[in-house]
Amino acid sequence: MSSSNTTARSRQPAADTAAGPHINKADKREYDFIVVSNRLPVDRVVDDDGNSSWRRSPGGLVTALGPVMAKTDGAWIGWNGASDEHVDAFTHDEMRLIPVSLTAEEIEYYYEGFSNATLWPLYHDVIAPPEFHRHWWDAYRRVNRRFAEAAALVAADGATVWIQDYQLQLVPKMLRELRPDLCIGFFNHIPFPPTEIYAQLPWRGLVLDGLLGADLIGFQRSGDAGNFIRSARRFRGYSVKQQFVQVKDDDGEISHTARAEAFPISIQVSKINELAHREDIIERSKQIRRDLGNPKQVLLGVDRLDYTKGIGHRLKAYAELLDDGQLNVEDAILVQVASPSRERVESYRLLREEIEGSVGHINGQHDTIEHAAVRYLHHSYPVEEMVALYLAADVMLVTALRDGMNLVAKEYVTARVQTTGALVLSEFAGAADQLREAVLMNPHDIDGLKNAIMKAVTLEPEEAQRRMKKMRRQVLDHDVEHWSDSFLGTLRELKESGDGND
Ligand code: F6P
Repeated sequence: MSSSNTTARSRQPAADTAAGPHINKADKREYDFIVVSNRLPVDRVVDDDGNSSWRRSPGGLVTALGPVMAKTDGAWIGWNGASDEHVDAFTHDEMRLIPVSLTAEEIEYYYEGFSNATLWPLYHDVIAPPEFHRHWWDAYRRVNRRFAEAAALVAADGATVWIQDYQLQLVPKMLRELRPDLCIGFFNHIPFPPTEIYAQLPWRGLVLDGLLGADLIGFQRSGDAGNFIRSARRFRGYSVKQQFVQVKDDDGEISHTARAEAFPISIQVSKINELAHREDIIERSKQIRRDLGNPKQVLLGVDRLDYTKGIGHRLKAYAELLDDGQLNVEDAILVQVASPSRERVESYRLLREEIEGSVGHINGQHDTIEHAAVRYLHHSYPVEEMVALYLAADVMLVTALRDGMNLVAKEYVTARVQTTGALVLSEFAGAADQLREAVLMNPHDIDGLKNAIMKAVTLEPEEAQRRMKKMRRQVLDHDVEHWSDSFLGTLRELKESGDGND
């Protein structure tokens, strides 16, 4: 829905002319529901003749919000993925998309730097050491302001704006200052760290202020919400009642109450379920098993190539099981899909070398002419192929050292329509809160991980079925629509009860 409201428009701030969105006439309509995320939910594809077009991108966030956007006449604000390029707003897949431009330097400092080499490791248990650079922070602030200004420009009076993820934590406060009439939600897709780790961030107070500009701040796990609330109390001295934080303005007056709570994200269950029933995909899964040499056990790992995913720990455990003779390459194979990610960030480059070195080492030691120990695939695949892989896999390995949720675990469970198969799941993935019947383990404990893999491989069929049925029920009852409905429903309740504004 859109309305033309001159009162609201007169409040609009000046656009960031350096790289702000180009708002043409059609874009000057105002939207009642706006999603703001670092990336737009589309990728540019260029065909052999050099013609470029947009394709809906894969990935958790898009899968999650695509259906919501399709149902509403809303707009989505995000970076178009290129550097130094202005793209006019356009419509794709029933979604109005408003691109925000980034310069090459901003991509380096704001995206690769502050987002992915400061916040990402800090928020994931400092698995890699976070880097703190003031010029990265400056770029983060500048880019967050650009996103906030874009949202302020296109939002209708009293609109709902839902800001996504750690790249944009300053946007809620900036947007509230520009447009106090808006109803603002924020969802953090990644973990929020314990106070003692968060304390390292030189700009910890400013980031908390940024987030607390939202009326509702959603997290994956209740532990994340608890961590956030404790930090708000400790570093801002705000008074907290259960999940409510009383936020003060610069004069020390209470400006509003922000609510922080867990809303575990999920997947588009109907899509995965439907694909898992498709004849051609079932046939493809059989073909995959044949191509792998019809082993007794297909173990599968599917991850972005990221150091948080525990791929190295998984390979180590698997290699030791081969060394010990508990598994052998005639009977078992590990298929590891590692999709390329953030390849310009140093820690990701190093990780790729390390993982590929380990795979080479394991295969060199255990392969025979007929059998491979690990089939390593450094690619992204379309969802159809992923579902065929899930159908082909007897055991799914999710061994994250820290993960906000892990949607792969939920996809695997959903695809197992025959309720066979087993899921080995790290207790450090958000999904462990919902998938209690997985074989849960601590991936840092290599012996524990080996035991978990062997338990999954040798589960009695009835026991495996009992577990899978329960897990499938959980995911089927809590799909991504349930997630977005419950977040937006809570935000609406806050707005209606006036709880957000004291
Ligand atoms: O899980 C956090 C997240 O930012 C997702 O939103 C995204 O799909 C994924 O990581 C990949 O991130 P990037 O946009 O850096 O490639």
